[in-house]
Amino acid sequence: MTFFSLNEINTLLIWEMYLSKLKNILPRAVVKHSYARFGSSATKKEETVTLEFCRKAPKVELHAHLHGCIRPSTLQEYLTEKNVKYTPEEFKTKDMKGAFRIFDLIHAAIDNLKQIDRISEELFEDFAKENVVYLELRSTPRHLGSNTADDYVALLLDKIAKFEQKQSQMKIRLLLSVSRAEDIEKARETLALAKKYKSSGYILGIDYSGNPFQKTFTYFQEVFQEARDSNLKTVVHCAELPDEKTLQETYDVLKFKPDRVGHFNYFNDELFNTIHELNIPIEMCPTSNKFTMYLKDYHDHHFIKYYKTKHPLCLCTDDTVVFDTNISEEYYRMLKAFNFTEEQAKEVIKRSYECVFDEKIKQELRQISL
Ligand code: IMP
Ligand code: ZN
Repeated sequence: MTFFSLNEINTLLIWEMYLSKLKNILPRAVVKHSYARFGSSATKKEETVTLEFCRKAPKVELHAHLHGCIRPSTLQEYLTEKNVKYTPEEFKTKDMKGAFRIFDLIHAAIDNLKQIDRISEELFEDFAKENVVYLELRSTPRHLGSNTADDYVALLLDKIAKFEQKQSQMKIRLLLSVSRAEDIEKARETLALAKKYKSSGYILGIDYSGNPFQKTFTYFQEVFQEARDSNLKTVVHCAELPDEKTLQETYDVLKFKPDRVGHFNYFNDELFNTIHELNIPIEMCPTSNKFTMYLKDYHDHHFIKYYKTKHPLCLCTDDTVVFDTNISEEYYRMLKAFNFTEEQAKEVIKRSYECVFDEKIKQELRQISL
């Protein structure tokens, strides 16, 4: 995997030659200073990470929702086409309630599989453009028009297979989401689809997500237990609100011990110690979390607490169109806030590889030298 383009390597080599000539005519201190400013690979490692570095690095994206990652121009087109009424202010309000209002608007603009076909294709292109080498996408299967939830999943699997055939950079896997706003029958239907299509090799498990003001995990736990018994992975959005009900739910979720958790924004010392002992990887979505937690700065994010304890974690986007971000920006915003160097950034990226569900791909990712 190339990390610097040939052009950049050439530029670096030219600078090396130029600077070594300068060494002979300038005092040592001046040469050193010049080196630091223009950057050999040695000094670059000690500088704060750049957006360019984050963009070029081979990354994995493990927490992205299909309808939350529609290409902005396409969403705009569909909102107009379907005559969805909204105020510009609604798309700017990105706290928890505001984000779910945006999802309602998005879903109001999407009512057929032809749109899902285009949305998924563009989404794959957009993540690949950011140098994502492995994408674990998630989506809530829904019936659209005369098409069933089964048709929805079958279409996504077909799109993934075709995308993988036409390029070799990015592998894609799918998690089916159980929305906590829906009832248990719908959750069972989603599990049945995951089981039905597991043999395709593309569906790895099920996800628990949706409006956190709705039902709690215990209501759906039997479905997640059955998923586990069927050798499907389980991933659970949790600790998204700072209230008692959510706190209790977080204890219940950890007792279940999912394969990964999403967000884990609010925790006390006991939960911090428990998740660490259980070694459950956390999917962190910096910009999404910044909005829903009303953080003043990325520096206030819980990332650093878990980074320091060597906890398994991955940085992710959640919903690129809702939170106006992409995966390279997520790395850059989070790591720059803590003045991380390239070497530290590489360590964070490597840690995210370890959170990947597909074991074969995880082995391949471990071979990448960053
Ligand atoms: P979909 O599953 O493809 O329809 O993607 C959008 C859906 O993902 C939303 O309607 C929510 O149910 C879910 N979702 C997206 N972001 C979040 C989040 O941060 N917390 C909980 N659920 C979310
Ligand atoms: Zn999410």
